[in-house]
This record gives sequence, C-alpha cells and structure tokens, in this order.
Amino acid sequence: MLRSAFLSAVLLSGAAQAQDIEALKLDTRKNALPVLPKVVAMMQDTVATRGVVEAIPVCKEQAPQLLKEQSEKTGWKMSRVSLRTRNPERGTPDVWEARQLADFNIRAAAGEKVETLESGEIVTENGKPVFRYIRAIPVGDVCLKCHGAADKIEAGLKSELARNYPHDRAFGYDKGQIRGALTVRRPL
Ligand code: HEC
Repeated sequence: MLRSAFLSAVLLSGAAQAQDIEALKLDTRKNALPVLPKVVAMMQDTVATRGVVEAIPVCKEQAPQLLKEQSEKTGWKMSRVSLRTRNPERGTPDVWEARQLADFNIRAAAGEKVETLESGEIVTENGKPVFRYIRAIPVGDVCLKCHGAADKIEAGLKSELARNYPHDRAFGYDKGQIRGALTVRRPL
C-alpha cells in the first residue's frame, strides 16, 4: 500500500515534469525561433542585392545581434553553436550542447526532419534549475555560398573568410544537413 502510494507519487511527479517541459518548450519556441527565418531572409536579401562578400556581416554581426536583443528582452541566454565552427570563440558548444548536436545527427540519419529537431531538458547548474533548449539550424540554398564545398567558394570570398577565420571548419556542408543549432538557457 505504502509502496504503491510512493510509486504513484513518483509517476505523478514524472508526468508533471513532462508537462512542465512541454510548456517550457512551447514558450521557448515562441520567443526564440522567429529569429531563425529572419536571419535567412536577411541573408537571401543581402546576397541578392549586395553580393556574397557584403553578406558576411549577416552571419557575423546581425544574427548574433538579433539573438542578443531577444536575450535582453526575455532574460534568457541565446546563441548559435556548431560541431564545426567558423568562429570557435563564439560557437563552440558546451558538453550538453555537443551531446544534443551529436544526437541530432543520429536522429537525422534515422530519418527525422532536420527542420524540427529539438531537445529541451531541465538541468541543475550551481544548485539551481535551468531549462535548456536546443534547435537544429538546417543548411538551405543560400548557406551553401559560404558553408558549401570549399572548392566551390568564390576566390574573393574565400580569402576574406580565411583572413577573418584562421580556424574555419564550417565548409563542406550539403543542403539539408545540420549547420548548427540555436541554444537557449533559461533560469527557472
Ligand atoms: C556570406 C557568407 C555566409 C553565408 C551566406 C552564410 N553564413 Fe553562416 N557564417 C558566416 C560567417 C562569416 C560566420 C562566422 C560568424 C562569427 O564570426 O561569429 C558564420 C557562422 C555561422 C554559424 C555559427 C557557428 C559557426 O560556424 O561559427 C551558423 C549557425 C551559421 N553561420 C549558419 C548559417 C546558415 C543557416 C546560413 C544560411 C541561411 C548561413 N550561415 C549562411 C558566413 C556566412
């Protein structure tokens, strides 16, 4: 009797936590995800009107700036990470993120749609609960101009990238692959 009461309490709290996570995911998506199509549109527009070299600042300055503004608005920390970074100072994942990114690659290989790959978890950091959320960023057509096969990158652009990014590992992607992820850390 006691034992089953204990068991149902455990099950209940498990269910309650699953519900919390769903609610947190929903709210995090709503506040964080709109930045992604904004950056894609900005990139497409800038490449089309000003050319690819002039579009470097979209990934270098405007995308981080949009995430910074959204971070300030929400009080959550948002950034982009990748297992193969162009800018390792900014985009290197921590252990949790690297684990999720590796898992995304496995899930994508198993047939899950890259556009909707995400993960959310409540973790404890320094004794405090934190909600962590991560969402895959897929490679679209326009991304290939700067993240596609290295031998297909225009010479002027290539030297400009090499000048800025001596440790660049962000070439060689195909359309539909996972370029990286948007990551959110939300104190609870
Ligand atoms: C005009 C060139 C260019 C195009 C086109 C481009 N990027 Fe980038 N990308 C960069 C540069 C430069 C950086 C390094 C930014 C920095 O200094 O933080 C970068 C960095 C990133 C990062 C951060 C992780 C890392 O590698 O440092 C992600 C994620 C990313 N790009 C995704 C995309 C996606 C998705 C697209 C297509 C919508 C795209 N990029 C198109 C130039 C480009």
